Amino acid sequence: MHMHRVEKWWLTAGSAMIVIFLVVIGFSAFAAGMQPPSAEHQMIDPAKVRETAPFDHPGLKQIAANEYELDMIAYVFGYDPAKIDIPKGAVVHFKVTSTDVVHGFEIAGTNVNMMIVPGEISTFTYTFNNAGEFLLLCNEYCGSGHQVMKAIINVKD
Ligand code: CUA
Repeated sequence: MHMHRVEKWWLTAGSAMIVIFLVVIGFSAFAAGMQPPSAEHQMIDPAKVRETAPFDHPGLKQIAANEYELDMIAYVFGYDPAKIDIPKGAVVHFKVTSTDVVHGFEIAGTNVNMMIVPGEISTFTYTFNNAGEFLLLCNEYCGSGHQVMKAIINVKD
């Protein structure tokens, strides 16, 4: 079969690029230990969320002088707890999981925005520097009651 010289050159260059990309991906994954963010998530049994610590006692827990862990459960169609009081200036480490389907976790007016997947614990740290009432809402369509799924975060002076 006759192959044009330029065609051969492109085939060689194309194959070389594929090999280079595979080597780069292989090196990143296996030698440099790079993983997608989801691989760092803690996994739990989504059917046993309410029996699994820390979700057996959801809510705000003080862990240091001005630092809190907020353990929350997302479910169809709400959050547990649905009302949270947080002192102004507190550093809050969110730990959230879902008991049923994929939900969103967005606090309007902040950069807190997570996807909550059943069986995975999503984490985020945020400092509430402004007092006021913040709306936590679900921004992933999760069923017929999606639009009523919310919680209120009250940041107090
Ligand atoms: Cu939960 Cu939409």
